[in-house]
Amino acid sequence: MKNLENYMLKATTLEALEKVRVELFGKKGLLSKEFIKLKDIPGREKRAFAENLNKQKASLQKSFDKHYETLKAKAIRALLLSEKIDVSLYSNISNKGALHPVTETMDKIIDYFVAMNFAVHNGPMIEDDFHNFEALNLPTHHPARDMQDTFFCNDGKLLRTHTSPVQIRTMLKETPPIRMIAPGSVFRRDYDVTHTPMFHQIEGLVVDKEGVVSFANLKSILTDFLQYMFGDVEVRFRPSFFPFTEPSSEVDISCIFCEGEGCRICSHTGWLEVLGCGIVDENVFKAVGYENVSGYAFGLGIERFAMLLHRIPDLRTLFEGDIRLLEQFE
Ligand code: DAH
Repeated sequence: MKNLENYMLKATTLEALEKVRVELFGKKGLLSKEFIKLKDIPGREKRAFAENLNKQKASLQKSFDKHYETLKAKAIRALLLSEKIDVSLYSNISNKGALHPVTETMDKIIDYFVAMNFAVHNGPMIEDDFHNFEALNLPTHHPARDMQDTFFCNDGKLLRTHTSPVQIRTMLKETPPIRMIAPGSVFRRDYDVTHTPMFHQIEGLVVDKEGVVSFANLKSILTDFLQYMFGDVEVRFRPSFFPFTEPSSEVDISCIFCEGEGCRICSHTGWLEVLGCGIVDENVFKAVGYENVSGYAFGLGIERFAMLLHRIPDLRTLFEGDIRLLEQFE
């Protein structure tokens, strides 16, 4: 039996040990053959023979189990070593990721206003009528509500149509002076070359004691901002209307494609409209309970900026996730 044990220990792999197992413990194995001999053993000696055989079998089985565990641990260690990945190895796969043009443009705009000491605020995308319309001087049935085709939810809530409600939320939470921007997604029922149902805006609001904030301040910061974004462009403020500002203005830059000569992109006007702004309407301050303050506000669409900066002709391509488009912005 000692020989059998030595023989077994010579197996150095699990496969070799399995072979040995069949040879020793199998149906036609050595041990079975020993047990068959039992029937030829005379009655008196039978018991001692059987006892001895069972003892040896148990001892052999114990050595076998131990050896099996050793070989198995060895095999696992070898497998782990062979499958080890050196994460520090240099790879020359060149699939570098990049920021989406909308994100990149949004970051660039935020950087400017943060440098100008504006705080960044966020608000919910699911809004209520009060914050999205009412408090912004857009009472029920006001015709200007039609300017923003709205997605309504069942419970009276709606998907915010602009980032302007963050103005209201911030004013209700804080006291002047306020100097904030609010970037985020907005939603409108629109879909064509220049409109998608979801897009992004940045809102700006500055409020201080009466007389501190003027239209001149607004003109100055927006002119500087637009030249930071588009380089050496002319900036023009054109009278316009927004319910939440009075007076209101739309802001144009000289066309960056034809330098004001007139082309298809600027509809031969030489100007590109880029944002809306104005002096905060008294009714907005009333809605949030502010008195003796003045302020200015502005709002712009980020996709419009990204399209102009990257000369992207169709807004919808920004949201199709086509890798061929995205690869151009690496
Ligand atoms: N909320 C306007 C829109 O979505 C954009 C806007 C215009 C915001 C003028 C303003 C503003 O704060 O003063 O079309």
